[in-house]
Amino acid sequence: MSGVGPSDFSRFHLALIPPETLELIRSRLDIVELVGEYVPLTRAGRNMKARCPFHQERSPSFIVSPERQTFHCFGCGEGGDAFSFVMKSESLSFMEAAEKLALRAGVKIEADRELGPADKERIRIREANEFAALHYHELLKKDAAAESARAYAAKRHLSKASVEGFLLGFAPRNGTLVGAATKKGFTADLLVKSGLAAKRADGSLRDYFFDRFMFPIRDVKGAFVGFGGRTLGDGEPKYLNTAETPAFSKSKVLYGLYEGLAETRKARKAHLMEGYMDVIASHQHGLKTACAPLGTALTPEHALLIKRYADAVAIVFDADNAGQNAAVRGAETALESGLTTRVASVPEGKDPDEFLHAKGLAAFQAALNEAQDLVAFKTELLIKRVGELTPEAKSAIAKDVMSTIVRCPDEILKDEWVRRLASRLGLNEESLRRSGGKLIPQSARRQTVASAPAPGSTAVKAAVLPVGDLQLLGVLFKTPASASEVLTSDLESASAREIVAALCALPLEGKWGPRLLDALQPAERAVASRLLGDELGYDDPDIYLRALLGKRRMQRRVKEIEPFVVSGKDPGLRDEYHRLVAQLKGTKR
Ligand code: UTP
Ligand code: MN
Repeated sequence: MSGVGPSDFSRFHLALIPPETLELIRSRLDIVELVGEYVPLTRAGRNMKARCPFHQERSPSFIVSPERQTFHCFGCGEGGDAFSFVMKSESLSFMEAAEKLALRAGVKIEADRELGPADKERIRIREANEFAALHYHELLKKDAAAESARAYAAKRHLSKASVEGFLLGFAPRNGTLVGAATKKGFTADLLVKSGLAAKRADGSLRDYFFDRFMFPIRDVKGAFVGFGGRTLGDGEPKYLNTAETPAFSKSKVLYGLYEGLAETRKARKAHLMEGYMDVIASHQHGLKTACAPLGTALTPEHALLIKRYADAVAIVFDADNAGQNAAVRGAETALESGLTTRVASVPEGKDPDEFLHAKGLAAFQAALNEAQDLVAFKTELLIKRVGELTPEAKSAIAKDVMSTIVRCPDEILKDEWVRRLASRLGLNEESLRRSGGKLIPQSARRQTVASAPAPGSTAVKAAVLPVGDLQLLGVLFKTPASASEVLTSDLESASAREIVAALCALPLEGKWGPRLLDALQPAERAVASRLLGDELGYDDPDIYLRALLGKRRMQRRVKEIEPFVVSGKDPGLRDEYHRLVAQLKGTKR
């Protein structure tokens, strides 16, 4: 277990921090030093660079600017200041990041004065849930009425470490929570809002959970937000879960993610299971990257949550029809959010909990190693289900699988999957691609880039870039070492950003041109290739580039503040506005 007891928790910091305090913190920090504690930085001109901590890359496109005290990644587009860096790296809220940096900078933050009523309520609800978790936990361990629950825990092979680590508990038939919580100062209203108590017809309160084995649900920060309660027998429902409360939403919490966060972060991989018991059994056997939604399908919010800590996810499910369908749906959601997605099935019709206790971790790992990617899995599943591959069946399967493929944000992967699907079904790749093209929602299509061309086809459409971007790239190619000077916001098109990112990531010794082209996708490659062949000369491309960047930034700033100046809303911006306009006039070529 991660050894996270309830005592090191209960601190919530939601105070509003005055801007002067933030300024003070900022002034005492050095972003280079800060970032350097997370990733090794090397010098790159006036900046520092590193391999981006927020996405996987082989060569560095992550730039830290000591002058601006900012960071920026040309690969994934992340960027910001020291606060956003800490938020992103440690998955903290702004307040939490500010707390951490304040401590580092030796700045004291005045507490809790300006907490809003909704924040206060959420905090109270979490406190009530924490109190309840400890209450149920103590009962499970010590209460005479919990004998059957202890027997149940033993029957389900729950170890002492699991009971402690997940703070498992028992809600007896004659509930004692409402009484105990009321004594502690939690109001009736709050207990009902927390999902811990229900009102009887006569207005009196009763415990919401009774005669159930209790699984406290913690959010990714460790706060207790709700419960799942299992009947000890065959009662219905099998699991009773906390309803939505201001502190709890099923679609945003994954059971076990907090308890295994360190391992998940380290492995950059999560194993998604179906139930509470599967997660606990996995952790108990040493697979702490296991987590599960709370009886719902995987939501995009879940996928984004996982994405903060992992790049890959394996969906592990029972081998029945329902399990397979749910796995496909969950995997599609994961895929769509950009997670590398695998699907693994547990043999012998067991769920992970049963399988692990029967066969142990090694056998389970072996099953996980058989995981397939979603597209292969879905294709085989559909083929198995139709029995005979008639032309109609082929067409139906092709369409169904294409509807999955088009959801993948990675063009190269998509391309590869179409190729494999075509070969598996013995279909023509081109017609498959055409049928897929119709499935892509217009909004999701990249506007500047021609859709991925068929392999082998020579007619690659070049990406269409705005003139400004072409000009900038043209100069940059004459002074490629300055690529780190260019910010994402200096470029208008995604294609230009990709080209600059690739250039930043390139070692520049020797013939870098061909290597750059190698690193690009076809549509961008066509543009870059044209620009590289461009014979335009510049006396001093570096100086010219700087001038160009300066001008673009001024133009952007003018556009940004113009509405405020024109409307007279912010007279403080007038001087800046007029200075910029005058400067821009002077620089006009
Ligand atoms: P399962 O029915 O597969 O249960 O539900 P399980 O996890 O294997 O539990 P055991 O082994 O029988 O104790 C999978 C998940 O679906 C949700 C729960 O999150 C459960 O873990 N579920 C199931 C509910 O929310 N309510 C239910 O009534 C049943
Ligand atoms: Mn089970």
